[in-house]
Parts: sequence; C-alpha cells; structure tokens
Amino acid sequence: MKILVTGGAGYIASHTNVLLLERGYDVVVLDNLVNSSAESVRRVEKITGKKIKFYQGDCRDKALLDKIFSENDIYAAIHFAGLKAVGESCQKPVLYYENNLMANLALAEVMAKHNVKRLVFSSSATVYGTPKKLPLTEDMPTGEVTNPYGATKMMGERMFSDIQKADKDWHIMLLRYFNPVGAHESGLIGENPRGIPNNLMPYISQVAVGRLKALQVFGDDYDTPDGTGVRDYIHVVDLAEAHIKALEHIEEYGVGVFNIGTGVGYSVLDMVKAFGKACGKEIPYVIAPRRSGDVASCYADGTKAKELLGFEAKKSLDDMCADTWNWQSKNPNGYDQ
Ligand code: NAD
Ligand code: UFG
Repeated sequence: MKILVTGGAGYIASHTNVLLLERGYDVVVLDNLVNSSAESVRRVEKITGKKIKFYQGDCRDKALLDKIFSENDIYAAIHFAGLKAVGESCQKPVLYYENNLMANLALAEVMAKHNVKRLVFSSSATVYGTPKKLPLTEDMPTGEVTNPYGATKMMGERMFSDIQKADKDWHIMLLRYFNPVGAHESGLIGENPRGIPNNLMPYISQVAVGRLKALQVFGDDYDTPDGTGVRDYIHVVDLAEAHIKALEHIEEYGVGVFNIGTGVGYSVLDMVKAFGKACGKEIPYVIAPRRSGDVASCYADGTKAKELLGFEAKKSLDDMCADTWNWQSKNPNGYDQ
C-alpha cells in the first residue's frame, strides 16, 4: 500500500516514514523543504534499506498533487505539511493561514478528484486552548486558541470534518499531538530546527552540545509542583506508531479524533534534570519571565487511543532524553554538516 506523506521530510514525518517502510508500506513524500532538508529522506532510506519516492514541491500546488495522484496508486495520505512556529504565526498570520489552510484545501480537492478518501491529519493539543480541566479528553471544547498557528489546526479539523460530513466516503483521522520529542535510536534522524529553537527539548540539547549558553526557564511561579510549566512529552517514535495505528483503523471511522500523548506531565525542571542525566553534564539555566500565551499545565487523557486504536506510548522520559542526546551529539549541526 502506498502512502502519500505530505511534509514528509520533516521531523515527525521522517520517523513515521521509517515505521511505514518497516511495516511494508510504500512511501511517497511531498515536501517543499521550507523547514527541512532532503537529507532526512536519504537517512530514512539508509535506516530502512528501502526507497522513498520524493517530490520536492508545494502542497498548495494542485497541478503537482494531480501529477502525484496520477503517477502513484495512493491508498491514503498522512498530512504533516504545515508551518508550526507559534511565535512566527503571530507575526506573520497571513503566511500561516495561507500555507496551512490552502494546503489542506488543495490536498482534499485533489484527493477527492482521484477518489482517494483516507486522510490522517496532524492536529495539535493547541486546539484545546487553555485547559479548563486536566487531563484533556477529546470531547472537551476546542476553538479558544491563542495564536494563528493554533487557529489553522482548529480550522483544519473543522474543514476536514465538514468535507467528511458532505461526503461519507471519506475516512479522516484527526490526531492531536501533545509535545513530540526524542529521535530515532540510530541517531541518524531527529529534530533539526532552523535558527534558535523555540521548543524546550531542542533548546536544552543545543545547550548541552555547546551551541547555546543557558536555557531560559519561562516562569517558575505557575501553579505546578515546582512552579515551572508542565507538558505531556511523547517520544517521536511512539508518535510515529500512532500514525500506523490510525491507518490500520481508518476504515472504522468517518472522522476519528484522538489525543496522542502519554498522559504524564513533566515540568521544565524535570526535563532539565533528566536531560542532564542522559548527557552526563548539568544543563545551565536561568529563571526568566513567563512566555506569553503559555499555559501552566497540559497533558492528555490517552484512554480513547488506547481502547480504540490499541495505541499506547511505550518510551520513557529517559529514552526521550537519551535518544535526543544521541542524535544531537552525533549531528551537532543537525543535517547541515
Ligand atoms: P516540521 O517543520 O519538521 O515538518 C513539517 C514539514 O512540512 C516540513 O518538512 C516543511 O518543509 C513542510 N511544509 C510546510 N509547508 C509546506 C507546503 N506548503 N508544502 C509542502 N511542504 C510543506 O514539523 P513537525 O514537528 O514534524 O510537524 C509536522 C506536523 O505536525 C505539522 O503540521 C505540525 O503543525 C504538527 N504538529 C507538530 C507539533 C510539534 O510540537 N512538533 C505538535 C503538534 C502538531
Ligand atoms: N520552555 C522554557 N524555555 C524554552 C522553551 C520552552 O522554559 O526555551 C517551557 C515553556 O514555557 C513550556 C515548556 O517549556 O512550559 C514547553 O514549551 P515548548 O515550546 O517546547 O512547547 P509548547 O507546549 O509551548 O508547544 C508545543 C508546540 C506547539 C503545540 C503545543 C501543543 O510548540 O506547536 O506543543 O501540542 F501546539
């Protein structure tokens, strides 16, 4: 079975591609490389010993999508393509709405034209906005998002749900990821942010490798056990597995909505400590003011994914840190050697 992976050179997609290939799927990648490198595709081929068909181009380009669906007998698409930096989305909302929403629409239109109506969409815990109750369950209200990036995910969910409502032949899985971290155990692929990382784990790992001086901990006065923000970090290989499960169960759903997390929250200082253990040195940090838009705590109730998809995250916090360090120390400059 052939799977179209949009944004397939990116961080989560490259780990998903490894599992897809290992499980016998064929992978067709579409990526414009706006936030990734073709080297990740080559490395996935190296890990698996299998070939990926790679189209470099834009997911908003309907003519290119048409060509891809004409040249390949696609079973389903996993739609990762999108811009994802929360801060940048506040400065460049037009870019974010244009890129993320037009990519959704172009993909849905061309898929329907070719009668390929199975889609897995990368959504985010961000659709819940500020949690009113924890852990978060899928039936909790969404929509009060605090930034344009989050709005594109919320609208993406709505678009795909409306498309399925109008045409019941569609099978759509909306996966709400919590905080993906870690890397493949080979150390050949991992997260490769451009510029100074916005997210905690790549920031810590770049401090550990000496590219950055010290972590700024954004706030130590939250209502959490140690005052720092609590998140549900999930190993990217576990997250990749969730996509396989979603594909295996896709025919059972019109629209399926699933939280993909571990159900366990760790604080910023828990992460600093665990990473220090993994890399064998202390991570220097300073306490800084809260970052605007951050919530105190956010973690998933993963019961639905466990019961209905048979998905459960297996990897520990130590695995997440050890694998991140393995990737970062072997590739101090990411894919740009
Ligand atoms: P990533 O930036 O590594 O991957 C996204 C990929 O999409 C990149 O390779 C980029 O070049 C590509 N892309 C962007 N716009 C495109 C377009 N118009 N046409 C073709 N390719 C395009 O990010 P990631 O962390 O792997 O995230 C993958 C998906 O998961 C994104 O949709 C993201 O919003 C979502 N998500 C990520 C997180 C996270 O914390 N990493 C959390 C929740 C949801
Ligand atoms: N943090 C720091 N210092 C840093 C970076 C982060 O203290 O340099 C803290 C944050 O304040 C927060 C925690 O570390 O408490 C995690 O922050 P991240 O930026 O790593 O992750 P977020 O939870 O803010 O956001 C991530 C993705 C979003 C996604 C969201 C929910 O970046 O795209 O998870 O899935 F929407």
